[in-house]
Amino acid sequence: MATSSKRILLGITGGVAAYKSAELTRLFVKAGHSVQVAMTEAASHFVGPVTFQALSGKPVFTDQWDPRINNGMPHIDLSREADAILIAPASTDFIAKLAHGQCDDLLSTLCAARDCPLLVAPAMNRQMWENPANQRNIALLKQDGIAVLGPGSGDQACGEVGDGRMLEPAELFELTEAFFAPKLLKGKRVLITAGPTFEPIDAVRGITNSSSGKMGYAIARAAVHAGAEVTLVSGPTALPTPLGARRIDVQGARDMLDAVMAGVADTDVFIAVAAVADYTVKNRSEHKIKKTDSAPVIELELNPDILATVAALPQGPFCVGFAAESQNVLQYAEEKRRRKHIPLLAANLAQAAFGSDDNELTLIDDQGQHPLGRAPKAELAQGLIRHIAGMLAAR
Ligand code: PMT
Repeated sequence: MATSSKRILLGITGGVAAYKSAELTRLFVKAGHSVQVAMTEAASHFVGPVTFQALSGKPVFTDQWDPRINNGMPHIDLSREADAILIAPASTDFIAKLAHGQCDDLLSTLCAARDCPLLVAPAMNRQMWENPANQRNIALLKQDGIAVLGPGSGDQACGEVGDGRMLEPAELFELTEAFFAPKLLKGKRVLITAGPTFEPIDAVRGITNSSSGKMGYAIARAAVHAGAEVTLVSGPTALPTPLGARRIDVQGARDMLDAVMAGVADTDVFIAVAAVADYTVKNRSEHKIKKTDSAPVIELELNPDILATVAALPQGPFCVGFAAESQNVLQYAEEKRRRKHIPLLAANLAQAAFGSDDNELTLIDDQGQHPLGRAPKAELAQGLIRHIAGMLAAR
């Protein structure tokens, strides 16, 4: 689970994008959140309540007079049980109701009765989005402290192209997760290396390792959620860029060093998660090496140590290293931390860490060892960000 479990009231209003909210429900549930769906009558013309009931595992409410709520006040009960209300899709009409406090159905009434944050994901035709009345209403929502997510731009169901598309479910999921995360690194600039490096032998072959990038990408995502401005310097991976992070793709250790050094002056925190090749190929061939009877000899030379280089800068950022060891993990990790002169290092067992979705991390600093236990990388990333924020605050 990426953020601690939340109770989300997902409000669905009448728009063709309502079908995307089925996927959004699935993403929330998969991440461990509890989802209560409430729909307007118009929404149920686009997607049936049973779809959302099946995905959320809870009955769906559409009617202010629903007899299933014993006290006859579903607008109070449902809104009190939510940590946040997300309206996705939010139609022009529903936005107008929110802006003017109109309550003529269950969803608009429970929004008015809420004592929790309200997030709104508009979805409408581009002309409806640009309509001055709608723009005035959106401005009113923002004035009232309601978070407006999107809209996106592009092809519309009506065949037109422009602003007004609902953001994709994955984007809404990310933005909602970020909304809930404490802003522990607000205003901080964080530079992260992630993934493997690739050191070419010839035009088609090279030396790499089995780092997937998952740990580094999870940290980038957690840092974005914590309010940081994040740059991710990534070796070759198949992972999508975390929403809100700036990504720079590199191949070898030297490219990675160049990308890091280009950004390090504007960095408050540097987190070296990449599994960087210690050696590069000295006698690299420009063309593909032809097979012969004798095996070719590959000569290696030492790569620069990116973390040690950054840690040695006179006005350098706060540095966090990683160590993947296959034995004596904590002892070797602490030796590495002292050798590279870094305040914080995350130690993990190489066999368990490379490529997997879970990991077990122990943080080591001058105060000693802080085990984060075994957990999904997303959760460990949040633990690491909390620890870094604590150390920055104590400096
Ligand atoms: O990508 P995943 O599949 O999710 O796997 C995550 C991981 C196992 C790669 C990650 O959790 C991890 O442990 N990364 C560090 C791997 C490692 O063992 O690094 P190292 O011991 O070679 O180096 C120690 C530290 O110096 C690391 O922070 C590394 O990024 C850095 N380093 C190392 C060599 C080098 N030339 N430059 C560096 O900056």
